[in-house]
Amino acid sequence: MKGGPGPYVLGLETSCDETSAAVLDGDHCILGHVILSQDVHEVYGGVVPELAARAHLQKVDAVVDQALAEAGVRLDEVDFLGVTAGPGLIGALLVGVCWVKATAYGLGRPWVPVHHMEAHLFAPSLEDQKAEPPFVALLVSGGHTLLIHATAWGVYRLLGATRDDAAGEAFDKVAKLLGLPYPGGPAIERLSASGDPKRHLLPRPMLARNQRPGDADFYDFSFSGLKTAVVQLVRSLEAEGTLDSERPHVAAAFQAAAIDVLVSKTLRAVEETDCPRVLFGGGVSANKALREEMAARMGSGGELFHSSPRLALDNGAMVARAARFRFDRGEIATPDASASAAYPFPGLLSRVA
Ligand code: KG4
Ligand code: ZN
Repeated sequence: MKGGPGPYVLGLETSCDETSAAVLDGDHCILGHVILSQDVHEVYGGVVPELAARAHLQKVDAVVDQALAEAGVRLDEVDFLGVTAGPGLIGALLVGVCWVKATAYGLGRPWVPVHHMEAHLFAPSLEDQKAEPPFVALLVSGGHTLLIHATAWGVYRLLGATRDDAAGEAFDKVAKLLGLPYPGGPAIERLSASGDPKRHLLPRPMLARNQRPGDADFYDFSFSGLKTAVVQLVRSLEAEGTLDSERPHVAAAFQAAAIDVLVSKTLRAVEETDCPRVLFGGGVSANKALREEMAARMGSGGELFHSSPRLALDNGAMVARAARFRFDRGEIATPDASASAAYPFPGLLSRVA
């Protein structure tokens, strides 16, 4: 309910295929939150950028209106606005950024550009105030796979990243191969539940015992080889005529391989940084098997923070939360600020720096 400490922040997310708005009161009180997932992409088996931008344009007013109504806050009571400025699909990003820029100008209020992956980093703190740095963060979404050591909000050291497909992209591509709908992650997770992960052995790319800290591949990920191994397995099962009955086992074997790599690399980071606090963010962190394996392998000495599925996937509340942090540091948009598909992650120190 309205009436908290404020400020009231309106957060808007339109970087991919969710149109979402939220009103945040203070640091973590979500007064209103609407997430509209676009369904126009289902028939294409993936997000079509031009359709995503048009769908955002059609729905953005209604989504914001509903979030404000839920919050009981009028637009002119909003203290500042935050919007995902990148990375993402440029046409989709521009819808949100132009909407926020124009609205902020009309209201005479500031606005804050937000990095989409930093917003994912903040999501767990909306539900658990202990989800604060220091932590090792694994950010796994449809477009990114990042392993980060965060020593404070805004101070991030990049440990590893994917060299090809993102983790979520791998789930989506394997789902498509198995004839499952988009988005593939939830469909793979459901199908895996009735499969035997050990029936087919798939490779664990970039995971070898002889890697040492300092080697670039010690923390990096690669998922395209795993996807190719699934392609070959599916073809041979097809040739044998057993693909239909083997589908759950293939899904389970893929999920187990992807999770093994993600958890093993995160554990390497826990050990090397001596930081037993782990945070999962991004759409793939909605995967229960991933969270359970991390918790089991970390043991009772570690802490694992993650969001509920609603806040793990793209949403406006995490954007509002990240905007609040950047606003407090005075990082208000200048008149020439805009969207960028390759928006740099603020505060991220590269490995060579
Ligand atoms: O963070 P997100 O909502 O959007 C991006 O920033 O990309 O992540 C979407 C990705 C998709 O690739 C989707 O298949 C994956 O997250 N995903 C999952 C699960 N739920 C969503 N992957 C594995 N298991 C899930 N339960
Ligand atoms: Zn995302």
